[in-house]
Amino acid sequence: MALDREAALSWYRRNRDRSRQLFDMLPEQVYYSRPIALRHPIVFYEGHLPGFSFNTLVKKGLGAPSIDPRLETLFARGIDPHESQANGHQASWPDRDAVRAFAAEADARVIDALSREELERPGHPLLDRAEAVFGILEHEAMHQETLLYMWHRLGFDEKHRPEGYAPVTDGTAPADEWIDIPAGRAVLGVDRSAVPFGWDNEFPACTADVPAFSIQRHNVTNAQFLAFVEGGGYKDSRWWSAEDWRWVESERVEHPLFWERSDGGWLWRGMFDMVPLPLSWPVYVSHAEAAAYARWRRMRLPTEAEYQRAAFGEAGRNGSGAGERVYPWGEGPPTAERGVFDFISWDPQPAGSHPAGASAWGVEDLAGNGWEWTSTPFAPFPGFRAMASYPEYSADFFDGEHFVMKGASPATARELLRPSFRNWFRGRYPYVYATFRCVK
Ligand SMILES: [Fe+2]
Repeated sequence: MALDREAALSWYRRNRDRSRQLFDMLPEQVYYSRPIALRHPIVFYEGHLPGFSFNTLVKKGLGAPSIDPRLETLFARGIDPHESQANGHQASWPDRDAVRAFAAEADARVIDALSREELERPGHPLLDRAEAVFGILEHEAMHQETLLYMWHRLGFDEKHRPEGYAPVTDGTAPADEWIDIPAGRAVLGVDRSAVPFGWDNEFPACTADVPAFSIQRHNVTNAQFLAFVEGGGYKDSRWWSAEDWRWVESERVEHPLFWERSDGGWLWRGMFDMVPLPLSWPVYVSHAEAAAYARWRRMRLPTEAEYQRAAFGEAGRNGSGAGERVYPWGEGPPTAERGVFDFISWDPQPAGSHPAGASAWGVEDLAGNGWEWTSTPFAPFPGFRAMASYPEYSADFFDGEHFVMKGASPATARELLRPSFRNWFRGRYPYVYATFRCVK
C-alpha cells in the first residue's frame, strides 16, 4: 500500500479549504472568544491545525528546522475538555496577522514536504507506512468537527449563515422498533496490515463473543426523550449514577444542552436558528443523560462490541467475523443517501430518513446523524502500542472516565467512517453531536 502522493496533497488542500471556510464564518470580534469554557479560544485552532501538521510531519518526521519555536509551542496542543481552566492557561495570544503568517508558512512547508520528500520509510518511527502523513490529515478532519460544535455555542449574530441553508425539520418521529441480533462474534479494532492507516487505539484486531440482544432500529428521538424530561427524569436520582446525579444537581441540569425552554414548549438550538424542537431528530445528549434515559426505560446502552455487531456484522453469519462489512450498508461509498455525515448538513436530520444506510440487520443511521454513545469505557485493546507520531493521542485518556462513541455525526468527514475508528468523551461532556440508542 504505497502512499499516493497526489491523493495526500489533494486531501491536505481540501482540509485546509474547509478549515478556512469554517474560520471565515466568524466575524472578527469572536476571534479571541472561548465558546466552550473548557477549550481554547478560537485563535488557538487557526494556528494549531497547520502547526500540528508542520510539527508532526515536517519537524518531527522529517527533521526539518523550526519556523517559530514560540508559536509552535503555543499552538502545540489542545486540551481535554475537563482539564480545568484552573490550570490557568493564560497565554497571550498573538494578533491574527501573526497567526495567519505562521499558518501560511506551515502550510507551505507541509505542501512542499508532501510534494517531494520521502514520506514512507519502513522502520522509521513516524514514517513507517507514512503514519505522520495520514495522522496529520485525519487530525485536521477531526478538528473540523470540534470547531463546528464550538461554533454551535456562539450566538446567532456571531456567525455568518450560509446562503440558502435551512434545517430539515419536517418528518415524523419513527415508531419505537426493535431488531433482534442473534449471538455471534464482533470484530473490534483492526490489524495494522489491513488498513492504510489507523490510530493507535484501533490496533490490533480482536474479537468478542456477543450474546443475543435487541437494539432499537432508530436513535432515540427528541420525541422519545421528551417523555423522560417531562416525566421528571432529571429530578429523580434513581436513573443516574451517583456522580452523574451530583452533576445534575450542582449544574442544575434539567434538559439536553441543545434544548431550550420557551413559553409553552421547547426549542432546539440549531447552528443558525432556534427551531421548535424537531421531534423526529435524534436527541443529542451526554453519556450521563443517555444512560439515565436507558435506565428509566429499564434498558441499557449498547457495548462497543454490540455496536460493532449491529453495524458491521453480516446477517446469517454468526461465526468468525470474516463477513464483516466495510460500512453498515456494505461496500458502497459513503454517499449522501446513506447517511448524514461529511458536512452535508449543519444540523441533524430526521431519524430513519436514510434507509439506504441500514446495516445487514436493518438498523438505521449507525453511521451518521450523531455519534452513538456506548457503555464501554475507552481502553486499549490487548497489544496496544502508543503511536510514535502522536504518543499522547489515546494513552492520556485511558482513565476510565471516557466512554467510546462510534459512528459519525453530520460534521464527521467521510474518511473517518471505518469500522475500527473510535471516538471518546467524558460522560458529562454535553457539547458533542452525540446521540444513542438502547439495547435489551
Ligand atoms: Fe489537535
